[in-house]
Amino acid sequence: MTQPATAESTLPGIPGREANDDGPATDVVGRTLPDYPAPAPLADHGPARVVAMCNQKGGVGKTTTTINLGAALAECGRKVLLVDFDPQGAASVGVGVSPHDLDLSVYNLIMERDVELADVVRPTRIDGLDVVPANIDLSAAEVQLVGEVARESVLSRALRPALDEYDLVLVDCQPSLGLLTVNALTAANGVLIPLECEFFALRGVALLVETIDKVRDRLNPDLAVDGILPTMFDSRTLHSREVVQRVHEAFGDTLLHTVIGRTVKFPDASVAAEPITAYAPSHAGAAAYRHLARELVARGSSR
Ligand SMILES: Nc1ncnc2c1ncn2[C@@H]1O[C@H](COP(=O)(O)OP(=O)(O)OP(=O)(O)O)[C@@H](O)[C@H]1O
Ligand SMILES: [Mg+2]
Repeated sequence: MTQPATAESTLPGIPGREANDDGPATDVVGRTLPDYPAPAPLADHGPARVVAMCNQKGGVGKTTTTINLGAALAECGRKVLLVDFDPQGAASVGVGVSPHDLDLSVYNLIMERDVELADVVRPTRIDGLDVVPANIDLSAAEVQLVGEVARESVLSRALRPALDEYDLVLVDCQPSLGLLTVNALTAANGVLIPLECEFFALRGVALLVETIDKVRDRLNPDLAVDGILPTMFDSRTLHSREVVQRVHEAFGDTLLHTVIGRTVKFPDASVAAEPITAYAPSHAGAAAYRHLARELVARGSSR
């Protein structure tokens, strides 16, 4: 007699092979896929882990991952703060905050001593998910910071009050390895690297890892690489699979089991200014980010 599938074991919705007569479920590179439990409820909040979403290549899924991982963890009762650290303000827009009518943004928080975190944080429509928004003002900070004392740690100082209140702080970086990104890496406990499943994507990762190593040596000795997350995986092409194989050969188990498939539901959700977990809660894309949330909690990369 076959066992009825439990909610746990039907969760994945991620590329890979489902459990069958030949064996257990596996991920894209053939590793056994653990059956991650739903994260246990938390009795209280904090201390937060700070995670920087980082890749200097543009359009690889940093903002999409920040919003949807944040929302998936909020669904599990975590208190999550999204920090938009890109002057494009895409993470702010993606959770419904218009960058044009901001009195205060992350720019004021890091540049003005009398502006505190509480002045800048905004709630979103998602329970447990707050945002520190950004707009084009932030582009001036990169230049203005150059002459500042401890210019690499202004974000770290500004985020300190969040640590007691939240379980996870996710910093959405801009596509560059400049001073703003170095600030995010200095403030972070861990880095998540979204990687588009496309061949040239691999080239930039070595440079990114070099930057992470430098920040670890000089500014933030405990900085960890929490994982590489393949995004925009197209299961119809061999090409996507080969890219993930290469990442596995080069980086071993830094490659997460979770792989995010390519689907138009993500851009659709951005237009609606909602996380996919709210816009299309039963879509495979929502299941994939929930799987990522479980995997990161199981790996100790989030509470
Ligand atoms: N898994 C996916 N499938 C299809 N489209 C996706 C997926 N993930 C992200 N996208 C879309 O790709 C575009 C780029 O994604 P996103 O903005 O998250 O990347 P980014 O790395 O933050 O870009 P930037 O470097 O410009 O900040 C967006 O239009 C987004 O909706
Ligand atoms: Mg972005």
